[in-house]
Amino acid sequence: MPTGGTGATEAAAAPSAQPPAGDGPLLDVRDLHVEFRTREGTAKAVNGVNYSVDAGETLAVLGESGSGKSVTAQAIMGILDSPPGFVTQGEVVFQGRDLLKLSAEERRRVRGAKMAMIFQDALSSLNPVLSVGEQLGEMFRVHHKASRKDARAKAIELMERVRIPAARERVKQYPHQFSGGMRQRVMIAMALALEPDLIIADEPTTALDVTVQAQVMELLA
Ligand SMILES: Nc1ncnc2c1ncn2[C@@H]1O[C@H](COP(=O)(O)OP(=O)(O)OP(=O)(O)O)[C@@H](O)[C@H]1O
Ligand SMILES: [Mg+2]
Repeated sequence: MPTGGTGATEAAAAPSAQPPAGDGPLLDVRDLHVEFRTREGTAKAVNGVNYSVDAGETLAVLGESGSGKSVTAQAIMGILDSPPGFVTQGEVVFQGRDLLKLSAEERRRVRGAKMAMIFQDALSSLNPVLSVGEQLGEMFRVHHKASRKDARAKAIELMERVRIPAARERVKQYPHQFSGGMRQRVMIAMALALEPDLIIADEPTTALDVTVQAQVMELLA
């Protein structure tokens, strides 16, 4: 097992304005099993994972490479590559509801609005042909039906919140014009956009140098 932050999935629950429905934890993962069914056979990637996160709590998950940290996160978010990946057993109880029992449409509504994920590689997660402002603004256009003008204002506000300097000018720029640390901040801004109750961060700092890592961790906290 790694001893540091690298190789770990950190699941962080942001302080929440809306308390979870019921008295239980915000997220309760129970006996989760995930397997991949490929031509070469079946690989059991996750075998009975249990953890829970309360509102306002930060949980760090450590494990060696290939132990299933990212796959667990994907299963919770409902973005598991399926096929070949299948959740074969267990429950993902979020705000009192088992997400595994929801329809695809209901899960889409939970994603982004109530639960967001930050990935390791911001460059490949951002769209290279859309400006950063358009991508941030899209969250508000899709989820809140905001106008183009309002969406841009919100995008600038978010960029300022994650301390991107000269946000008003930078909002028009494209991902390749940002440094690695700045791109990761954009990813964080996108995750924060709709004020989700849970943020799952899968190695959000691995691609960054040590000083920028520290800044990003501080920002997340
Ligand atoms: N799309 C896929 N198809 C087949 N197998 C997969 C797929 N995605 C992941 N796996 C397998 O699931 C297992 C768990 O992978 P996972 O990415 O969750 O590891 P991890 O703990 O996040 O590792 P790392 O610390 O290197 O990121 C691995 O054996 C991996 O090969
Ligand atoms: Mg991983």
